[in-house]
Amino acid sequence: MKASATMPVTHRRVSSVGKTQVSRVRSRAVQTAPVATTTSVAYDIHGDVDKILFEEEKIKQRISVLGKQLAAEYADKTPIVLGILKGSFVFTSDLVRAMVPCPKGLTLNFLRASSYGSATKSSGHVKLTVDINLDDIKGRNIILMEDIVETGLTISTVKKALLVSGAKTVKVCTLLNKNNNRVSRYEPDYVGFECPDEFVVGYGLDYEDQYRSLPYVGVLKPSLVNIPEFAS
Ligand code: IMP
Repeated sequence: MKASATMPVTHRRVSSVGKTQVSRVRSRAVQTAPVATTTSVAYDIHGDVDKILFEEEKIKQRISVLGKQLAAEYADKTPIVLGILKGSFVFTSDLVRAMVPCPKGLTLNFLRASSYGSATKSSGHVKLTVDINLDDIKGRNIILMEDIVETGLTISTVKKALLVSGAKTVKVCTLLNKNNNRVSRYEPDYVGFECPDEFVVGYGLDYEDQYRSLPYVGVLKPSLVNIPEFAS
C-alpha cells in the first residue's frame, strides 16, 4: 500500500523478538463508520445533595484520631468491634483500619437493628437481628459502632441485650450524635461529630436505602425528601 504523506506514523511490534517496525497506517477514524452520539445524561448522585455537613477529608481525619484513641484504650482488652447494620458499615470498615496499632485479638462482627417506622421518623421500637454466637461475647469488651445516635433507643436496646448476654463491657462509638430528640439516658462514649438536627445521608446513612455510598455526610434537596418534622 502506498501511503500518503499526511498519514500518521505508528510503531508496531512485528515479531516475538521484540523488533519494532515503523509503518504508515490509516487512522481508525477513516476506517470506521461514525458512532451515533447518545443524548441521555448520566445520573449524578451529588446533584441530589443540598449541602455537605461533613466533608470526606474531615471524616477521614476524625476517624484517624478516634482509631488511635480506641487502639490505645483497647490495646490489651481483646475487643470485639460490633457494627450495627446497615448504617455503620462504612464507618466500621474505616474505623477498624484506623485502629493502629491493632489491639491483639481484635475481632469484628455485625448485627442488624432497625428503629425507623418510616424513612425518616423513628417508630420508637427497635428490632434486633443478632447473628452471632452469644458464647463468643461472654466476658468480652465490646465496641458498639453506630452511624448516628438520635433518640438513643437503638443503642440502649442493643447495649442492654449484650450486657444481659454476658459481655464484660459495652462502649458505644458513633460517627454522629444528634441529641435534640434524645429519649434514652444512654450517651455514646466516643463521638465523631455533633450533628445538627437535620436529616442526613451519606457515608453509610440512607434515605429509603439510597445515598449510602456518598463519601461525605450531607443533607438532601428538600424537594427529594418527605420529612415533615424538618420542613421549614
Ligand atoms: P435512634 O434509635 O433514634 O437513636 O436512631 C438511630 C438510628 O436511626 C440510626 O441507626 C439511623 O439508622 C437512623 N437515623 C437517625 N437519624 C438519621 C438521619 O439523620 N439520617 C439517616 N438515618 C438516621
